[in-house]
Amino acid sequence: MKAPVRVAITGAAGQIGYSLLFRIASGAMLGPDQPIILQLLEITPALKALQGVVMELQDGAFPLLAGIEISDNPLEAFRDTQYALLVGAMPRKAGMERGDLLSANGGIFKPQGFALSEVADRKVKVLVVGNPANTNALIALKNAPNLNPNQFHAMMRLDHNRAVAQLANHLKVEVTHITQMTVWGNHSSTQFPDLFNCHVNGKSAIDLIKEPMWYEDYFLPTVAKRGAAIIESRGLSSAASAANAAIDHMRDWALGTKNGSVSMAVYSDGSYGIPSDLMFGFPCESINSQVIIVQGFGINEFAEGRIKITTDELIEERDTILSLGLL
Ligand code: NAI
Repeated sequence: MKAPVRVAITGAAGQIGYSLLFRIASGAMLGPDQPIILQLLEITPALKALQGVVMELQDGAFPLLAGIEISDNPLEAFRDTQYALLVGAMPRKAGMERGDLLSANGGIFKPQGFALSEVADRKVKVLVVGNPANTNALIALKNAPNLNPNQFHAMMRLDHNRAVAQLANHLKVEVTHITQMTVWGNHSSTQFPDLFNCHVNGKSAIDLIKEPMWYEDYFLPTVAKRGAAIIESRGLSSAASAANAAIDHMRDWALGTKNGSVSMAVYSDGSYGIPSDLMFGFPCESINSQVIIVQGFGINEFAEGRIKITTDELIEERDTILSLGLL
């Protein structure tokens, strides 16, 4: 049996946490032979609720669950952790401007970045899920001087999975037949799900779509606005699908991508002309736990226009956090 690894999860008493913890404990993220110690972080008022979740985790009698620790202090919760899923964030409240939202989240992700830098395992892999995920990840990594920016990712995988599922349903193919799906840019309504580079059984996805306006008029808005549609229907934001996407992302990062590239928001190295200092959704592959941005995808005029919109939004968010002293 392998030695246990430490997995830190913030916002562990929340909705996503409730779907995430049990699947991680069952081995869905790091494999059926990898024991896990969960290190759960919550704000002080939520610790009682978290204790209830811990009781349920114990009641699962998970063979791989080698320990559970809870804390309201990031310096404790991140100690020696090899994987960190930063889920807890400040939601947008009525009347809040984007600057207020970024400022409130800066108060969470700045100290968490610092704590990871101080106490986490030197090879920690950090996935930011809490929104606005890309810019929260940028805040965290900029405040983690002892870690490499490449150790921080933001989650685009829910958008990616939504795009794959919509296309598979439309073309009546299995999701596993779809490769090279890429959602470029920000995890927001400006994201760009790209069917020009996407393949279905090796054929260009865009060429297989017969209805001329389906891509622009149905697919793009449906994928980008899926979160709002779920809130409208369920009365709550997506949680189980978000937890599933976080597991997909971390599993692929840790154990390697198996079927070509997937969408991950990583620290831009200037690929595809995207400015550095942005956390941007790119086509990525993971080999030996190292993520690379896949090069050579074609960017036509339409894609270029869409990528510019989402880039400009991320630049604006970056400029706001810069002016707030969060970088
Ligand atoms: P939730 O409100 O049910 O849970 C959030 C939890 O975080 C709460 O228990 C809260 O006490 C905790 N929390 C707040 N501040 C904290 C801090 N400083 N340290 C530790 N814990 C803290 O929210 P839910 O539904 O679980 O969503 C979590 C986040 O994930 C939200 O920001 C949501 O917008 C985001 N999200 C991101 C997606 C993505 O694709 N990137 C998809 C879906 C949700």
